[in-house]
Amino acid sequence: MSGRLQNKIALVTGAANGIGAATARLFAAEGATVVLADIDEAAGAALAGQLGMHFILADVSCEAQVERAVQATVERHGRIDCMVNGASIVGAVGSLMETTAQAWRATQGVLLDSVFFGIKHAARAMREQRGGVILSVSGIAGVMGGLGPHAYTASRHGVIGLTRSAASELSQYGIRVNAVAPGSGMPKEEIAASLLFLASDAAPHVTAHTLVVDSGHTAGGFASGASVLRDRPVAFMGPSGQRAVQAAEGQP
Ligand SMILES: NC(=O)c1ccc[n+]([C@@H]2O[C@H](COP(=O)([O-])OP(=O)(O)OC[C@H]3O[C@@H](n4cnc5c(N)ncnc54)[C@H](O)[C@@H]3O)[C@@H](O)[C@H]2O)c1
Repeated sequence: MSGRLQNKIALVTGAANGIGAATARLFAAEGATVVLADIDEAAGAALAGQLGMHFILADVSCEAQVERAVQATVERHGRIDCMVNGASIVGAVGSLMETTAQAWRATQGVLLDSVFFGIKHAARAMREQRGGVILSVSGIAGVMGGLGPHAYTASRHGVIGLTRSAASELSQYGIRVNAVAPGSGMPKEEIAASLLFLASDAAPHVTAHTLVVDSGHTAGGFASGASVLRDRPVAFMGPSGQRAVQAAEGQP
């Protein structure tokens, strides 16, 4: 049986660890040729070696390096069918009133500018080939306030907004643009599986969409004692998250 990404070419940033690594593994298992990009050369090259794939050292906060990664993917494999913007840092933490402009900009560089660069350069290549899928990893901090640090939260909202905006421009070229928004502690393989669905030919009409994977947290599902949370308590960020874990564990 052929995989759901058979003969597809995918570039995954942040592929050395976490969700990016899980995505690279799953996409490869589903038949894709995956180019892994990250600043963590040791882990990225090791995973690429295990998968029999190619690794590119790239800092996603630098436009030229993202452009180079896209170009290298196209030069090596002839095209790019799927771009996954998955690189991440926590970034600036603490009081908004004490956050410096430098820390703010550095955070947006990795968490939001990178997604702009990834969409921009993947879209240029995909426009030539008349189609493709661009996916970004946001988070539930992009859906609600109070679930993460300020700069991180702004970036996650920004990714969802840019996903919608870019999708409206790029649909004329047959390019779909979507995002996933994981809750903290969600299984990485489930996030990767969500990205797989969005990347696959099973979702030809899904664009401008953000798929939230959070056990119902942002819908208030934890308040009703959803069994999925009782079975698998989740370490949410922030004070409301602490209450969610307690509720899930049946505590007052
Ligand atoms: N893991 C979770 O529970 C969770 C929850 C909500 C949202 N998210 C979102 O998922 C995404 C990925 O998170 P994760 O948990 O996989 O993170 P992670 O820290 O496990 O992996 C992030 C990867 O990005 C790479 N990276 C960092 N800076 C980079 C740069 N400048 N250039 C290139 N690569 C860089 C790191 O080396 C690492 O391999 C993020 O957007 C995050 O907001 C994760």
